[in-house]
Amino acid sequence: EEGITVDELAQKINHTPAEVIKVLFMLGTMVTINTALNDEQVELICLEYGYEPKKIATVDETNFEDLIEPDKEEDLVPRPPVVTIMGHVDHGKTTLLDYIRKSHVAEGESGGITQHIGAYQVDVNGKKVTFLDTPGHEAFTAMRARGAQVTDIVIIVVAADDGVMPQTREAIDHAKAAGVPIIVAVNKIDKPGASPDRIRTEMSEFGLMPEEWGGDVVYQDISAKKGTGVQDLLEAITVVAEMAELKANPNRAAYGTVVEARLDKGRGPVATLLVENGTLHPGDPIVVGTTYGRVRQMTGDNGRTLKKATPATPVAITGLNEVPEAGDKFMVFDSDKTARHIGEARAEKKKEEERNTTSAMSLDDLYNQI
Ligand code: GTP
Ligand code: MG
Repeated sequence: EEGITVDELAQKINHTPAEVIKVLFMLGTMVTINTALNDEQVELICLEYGYEPKKIATVDETNFEDLIEPDKEEDLVPRPPVVTIMGHVDHGKTTLLDYIRKSHVAEGESGGITQHIGAYQVDVNGKKVTFLDTPGHEAFTAMRARGAQVTDIVIIVVAADDGVMPQTREAIDHAKAAGVPIIVAVNKIDKPGASPDRIRTEMSEFGLMPEEWGGDVVYQDISAKKGTGVQDLLEAITVVAEMAELKANPNRAAYGTVVEARLDKGRGPVATLLVENGTLHPGDPIVVGTTYGRVRQMTGDNGRTLKKATPATPVAITGLNEVPEAGDKFMVFDSDKTARHIGEARAEKKKEEERNTTSAMSLDDLYNQI
């Protein structure tokens, strides 16, 4: 593998090549501006200037993390929070989101069970909040894990007439693993037999001690059906979000995560993307997982065409060569040619990884037979 040159490294760390040459000279190595540095030399320079060497030493073009340039502090502006709603099946996640959106998604769903992660942006007292709805059904662990990863805040919905159930516990685990603040929405308080205090006791056993009991977790009693307490819940969300001081840089090429993707008979592959940073536009050359293309049509959660999608905005796009997978990362590139090249390289790498795991498995099988 070829190393990064003195000149390239100097550019990356915002210092002159002369400075890099001098540091290496002091450490006993003579180099010129065009010398390709080895990993150890790169590490020394990075240590000297306080950079993370991992990202600079070997740039893997199939790894988005290697390609994403860090933002400068002065380019960052506040962005909306991404809030994921989790909880056990039928505890009222979609009904809550529905009430918040003042629309009726739950009614249109097959059997009332959420089959996918819905992504919506709403206005709360003039401030945008992005919500992700997740299914409570046990088959969707991976989706919830993904939801937790792209989220800033997790709302755990627990039905007050039911209690802490398996997917409630799993949601707690996902939120803790993601290291994000948790707000507990104690739902269905309108129902006879609802016992919000019992929910607090049960949840406390999992380390979620309510503020009113001297802990640090915000609990809000609600009826998603009637709307009781929902405004207070929204205000709690904005308070927690403000404390997190979430920021992003809208003036850069977009990157983010696939929330869901499907093949539409008329429009081809359609992917719902959550922009994490930067701004996405129609016409942008893009790589999504191992697929690529050019953003053709871009629509918001209300179905309207969008000309741009800023950080924390969910959008559906068309224009990809194939259907990506939920949880895939996406990134915009400066030309169709680059997007195609990176997309193909990523597809090739994935194929190779799959070949490797299959051959590893067949070796295992072989050993098992011996
Ligand atoms: P999954 O997506 O399948 O995990 O379920 P969910 O958590 O999204 O539950 P959903 O919103 O579909 O609600 C399940 C049932 O509970 C529906 O019949 C709702 O009408 C009912 N429900 C939700 N919230 C309340 C509430 O506050 N009070 C009452 N009485 N019923 C509610
Ligand atoms: Mg639902």
